[in-house]
Parts: sequence; structure tokens; C-alpha cells
Amino acid sequence: CNLSITGRALNSWFVFFCSSWWAGVQMGPPDPILGVTEAFKRDTNPKKMNLGVGAYRDDQGKPFVLTCVRKAEALIASKQLDKEYLPIGGLGEFNKSCAQLALGADNEVLKSGRSITVQTISGTGSLRIGGNYLARFHSGPLDVYLPKPSWGNHTPIFRDAGMQLKAYRYYDPSTCGFDFKGALEDISKIPEKSVILLHACAHNPTGVDPRPEQWKEIADIVKKRNLLVFFDMAYQGFASGDIDRDAWAVRHFIEQGNNILLSQSFAKNMGLYGERVGGFTVVCSDAEEAKRVESQLKILIRPIYSNPPVNGARIASTILNTPDLRSVWLEEVHGMANRIIKMREQLVAGLKKQGSSHNWQHVIDQIGMFCFTGLKPEQVERLTKEFSVYMTKDGRISMAGVSSGNVGYLAEAIHAVTK
Ligand SMILES: Cc1ncc(COP(=O)(O)O)c(C=O)c1O
Repeated sequence: CNLSITGRALNSWFVFFCSSWWAGVQMGPPDPILGVTEAFKRDTNPKKMNLGVGAYRDDQGKPFVLTCVRKAEALIASKQLDKEYLPIGGLGEFNKSCAQLALGADNEVLKSGRSITVQTISGTGSLRIGGNYLARFHSGPLDVYLPKPSWGNHTPIFRDAGMQLKAYRYYDPSTCGFDFKGALEDISKIPEKSVILLHACAHNPTGVDPRPEQWKEIADIVKKRNLLVFFDMAYQGFASGDIDRDAWAVRHFIEQGNNILLSQSFAKNMGLYGERVGGFTVVCSDAEEAKRVESQLKILIRPIYSNPPVNGARIASTILNTPDLRSVWLEEVHGMANRIIKMREQLVAGLKKQGSSHNWQHVIDQIGMFCFTGLKPEQVERLTKEFSVYMTKDGRISMAGVSSGNVGYLAEAIHAVTK
């Protein structure tokens, strides 16, 4: 909001002197992640590696379309379905199975009908609808506490929705692991009724997740402080390869009596990136409250995009509701997670083989698509300049871009800049 006021004031001042409507519009900085891809594309080195963007690649380094997705598409095509608008809240059967996937089909919340799930424009759209909903209806402080660091897009999503951003300690650079003590200390000081955002699994960018016993303590403090929990679950299945294990924290918080908000994405776990399939769930006190919340979510969504796209939701819903396809999917998620785990091990083995004397155990211990290497900005710069290895400046690499063909080269490059 403030940004747009500054932008408008600046533009008006220029327009006063110039003839163009947009003379005062300043050049904005490129997106930090997508900017890495642009630089990668321009590089002509045949050994170049793009470890910036979080999209899964197969062991040949190629984008991967899941077999279950291809089969679901064929099934949908054979039905010759129409292209009518979906309802404002999206495809009903998708919403039902999306919530079941996260909460578990026999969850009391679903059985009693005290939650509402709407289909969203992937995880980003879900977080934004959540942000808008909070800005309009949250009775506590309009502050969202993010882990430090968090996915780069969280800040503008919630800021543009009208929320204020705060942070709690999360990552400990000295261990490249979870700062459990720091997180508990900070969370226990968050003012009551504030919103806290938690990454459900495979924390982006650090790859560092709390262990179940740590989650339990976090849940206790969150309950004591009466905080509103917003779970971002963009990687269910991608962390451990097991969809139920990855949803453990979400289910535990609900069991402990937290009426959470939940954002889900099917970009990574079904490889449906460009289809933009996601869900936003609000767990309420009872079914009647859920109905009221649903009515307001529709009022929020209608003037933004009217209703969500149909194709991706049909694919996800077909996979989740066709037993054969669902089991193919579960195997494929497991396969993707396992390939990433293998690459972590091979990278560390490669670094040892190169003679690196550093402790790289965190590369193996971290989980999910990303690895927070601990590389300093100058080392990242050298990797890019001298080896054509592209990544974000914070030293985060997407393990999904590493393959058996290039892991040796990556180890060689990392060793060269860290020895
Ligand atoms: C933590 C986190 N949340 C949400 C998203 C949303 O992604 P999408 O909008 O593609 O579903 C991402 C994607 O990188 C993410 O890493």
C-alpha cells in the first residue's frame, strides 16, 4: 500500500513535466530467483548448471512430467468435458480431496464439516487469498511472523495484502541447522493473537525442518500465546517421500486444538507448476462458522480472478480419486524425493573425494528440494563466474537441478571456491 502511494506520488511529479503518463515509473529490480534463470540462459558454457529455480528435473536434467499426470490427462481428454466456468471456490471434488490429503481422510475436522477449502492459483494464490482474508477479518494484530529466513515471496505476498511482516529466529548459520532455542525464545515473545507462518515441511530456503518432538514444543508455545497458525505446505511428499509423514506437523497442530489456516500447492508434488493448482483451507470452530467463512472467501475471490482454472484441478482430482493413478503418484513422489536424497549423498561424497576438509553433513541432513550450503556471497559469485553454476546469492541450491551427470562437476566447483 505504501509502495503504491510512493509510486503514484513519484509518477505524478514526473508527469507534471513530461508528456507521458508513465514518465515517473522507476525501473524495478529483477526477481532474485527468476533473474538467475535469465543469466543462466545467456551463458554458453556447456557445463552450466541452473540451481536457482525450484523445479524438479529428472536424472538427465530434463523437466519431469509424472506418468500419473499423463494418464490423468488422457482420461480427462477421453471424457470430452466442457470448458464451463468453475464455481468461485473451485472444483468441489478437488477441494475435498485436497483437504483430505493434508489433514488425513478420517480427520475429525473433515468429518464434522468444520473447515472450508477453496481451490486457489497454486500456493502463491493461496497465501495471497489467506493474506487478504486476514487483513479483512483477523481480530488480532495484523502482524505475520515469518521464519528467518523464509521463502522470498512471503514478504511481498503478505505486505501487498495489507499485513505487516515480523520475524522469528529459525536458521542457525553456525550449524547450518535449526535454531530451536532461538525459535522458541522468539515465538514465546510474539504478542498474543498475532499470526505465525510455519513451513509444514521441506523449509524453503534452508531445507531445515523441526523434528517431531521439536514441533510438539512449538505447538505448545503457540497454543499458550494464542497465536493464529498459518501453515504453508508447498512440498507435501517431497521432503520424506511420504505424504503422511510430511503432513505430520499440520495434523499435530490441529489435534492440539489449533484452528489453523493452510496453504497447499500441487506444483512440486505433482509437477503441475504451470497448471497453478492449490488450495486454501480455514479450520473453524464448527460447520456454521465454516459456512460464514466460505461466503466471505467467495466475496474476496470474485473480484480478483472470479473463479480458478479448471484443467489442473481436474488432473489433481483425477489422480487423487482414481486408486490406480493415486498409487502411481505415491510411487513417483517417493521416487522424486529419493533421487534428491541420493544427490545430497553423492554431492557430499564428491566433496570428500575432492579432498574437502569442511563438514558437509548438513547437505545430507537438510531435507526437500533445497540445500542451504552455507556458501558466502563471494563464493557464490565465483561459482557463477568461474564455473557457470547459477544459484541465489544466499547460497541456496536446488538439489532438483543436480543429476548423476553433473554432481561430480558441482563438487569440483564447490571445492575450488571453498578450499
Ligand atoms: C515455501 C513456498 N511456498 C509457496 C510456494 C508457492 O509456489 P506455487 O505458487 O508455484 O505453488 C513455494 C514455491 O516455490 C514455496 O517454496
